Amino acid sequence: MKKPNFPTSRSFSLEPNASAGSPSALSPYVDNGTDIFTTERYHDIEFARKEWTHMWRKTWSLAGLASDIPNTGDYFKYDVGPESFIVVRTGSGDHDISAFYNVCHHRGNRLVFDDFGSVDKFVCAFHLWSWNIDGSLLNIQDRETFREEVVCDNPPLTEVRCETWQGLVFINMDPDAAPLLEFLDVLPEHLAPFNIADMKIIKDLQTEWPCNWKIAHDAFVEVYHVQSVHPEILPFFNDYQVQWDLYANGMSRMLLKFGEVSPHFQDQEAVNEGLKALLEEADVDPEAYSGEPDGVRKAIQQGKRAKAQRLGLDFSAFTDNQLTDDWNYSIFPNVTFNAHPEGLLIQRFRPHARDPQKSVYDLMVLIHPVDDPKYRVPAYMGVEDDVDLSGKVRPQRRHIGYGEEGLGMVISQDSVMMGHMQEGVQSHGYAGARYSEQEQQLRHWHLELARYMNGEK
Ligand code: FES
Ligand SMILES: [Fe+2]
Repeated sequence: MKKPNFPTSRSFSLEPNASAGSPSALSPYVDNGTDIFTTERYHDIEFARKEWTHMWRKTWSLAGLASDIPNTGDYFKYDVGPESFIVVRTGSGDHDISAFYNVCHHRGNRLVFDDFGSVDKFVCAFHLWSWNIDGSLLNIQDRETFREEVVCDNPPLTEVRCETWQGLVFINMDPDAAPLLEFLDVLPEHLAPFNIADMKIIKDLQTEWPCNWKIAHDAFVEVYHVQSVHPEILPFFNDYQVQWDLYANGMSRMLLKFGEVSPHFQDQEAVNEGLKALLEEADVDPEAYSGEPDGVRKAIQQGKRAKAQRLGLDFSAFTDNQLTDDWNYSIFPNVTFNAHPEGLLIQRFRPHARDPQKSVYDLMVLIHPVDDPKYRVPAYMGVEDDVDLSGKVRPQRRHIGYGEEGLGMVISQDSVMMGHMQEGVQSHGYAGARYSEQEQQLRHWHLELARYMNGEK
């Protein structure tokens, strides 16, 4: 793929014949201007506090997976910034999930400490106050020693909004927030074919990074840096001819072509080893492939359709391009999806409890399970060869340190940049981010944050 002219529409269209408004269609360009964005957002404690009250306390955020709490009384803990929440299954229905602040009404102890658990009641370890799983007060130990005015409201656990989409549980601290599905704008329609609700988690990592959560987030909402930070993938990943779409509520996406040589890669003539590996993953014999490099993506798409049929995976709802490409969504404020027909890579960027110069990075991979020991998902999904893909066992969450093994090559390469960026953005010599149109999702995202910060949202 020779480097094409950058389009005057400021985005390539990967499916020019798609009908307007359909999931594949290029949406009209959103002119978000040319401002340079200030840098205190990445380090200043006052900015972080305001961001918490103005944005975090008002927005939906992905708390976890409904599949992690299949039975009544199962819960998981979701920590974000200074808060901690308990998300608990209260019954067998799809929507029988509630979320509460993880705090005891007596003197403020945390109620649960484990990431996952199963209970018939929540008991505070300090003085044994307890609550039912629906949040109603169960018992105040030695209640007769309290003057009635102190406890007459029988305080229930403080509840927050909790809604589920495709098996993904979101919470919102704002009781007046619009429903989750409205907030997600076009995403539920776009991602419906991927059928996330039927996926199983096969990889679950958490790690602390030495940077503000937005520095980490921003690095995954553009592929401008691929030519320098991830040159290994240029033989089979088109990092330049990208479709960018900007949606309501700060949401956006990029459609990224796998199976195509990057215009930034020198050798445009050969069916290189990277393309061959992708052909092989699609059960197409690379040695038997006699076409040009430009035809490889199509051959992979055909190969994948046939392979899916053999494996019993239903790819019928996908366009050909969806079979090869990364449908890469930015879900405001702190989640990215890499959606593939085989599964979904979820990245989540959480603010640190106290320090705006640190953050928590979460990586989860969900797949449509295949009970065949020879089955592997494409290498670009970053799943190690020894990971079980049958979906029968929920992998343990791994907590790894900064720089430790486990993130896979590409994300490890990204993570190296984080500490340097955190230092650089605080330099007196730096005036703020100047975004290219390749980074238009970042401009879109930061303008949405600005709307929260200035009270418009
Ligand atoms: S702090 Fe929870 S019972 Fe006292
Ligand atoms: Fe990267």
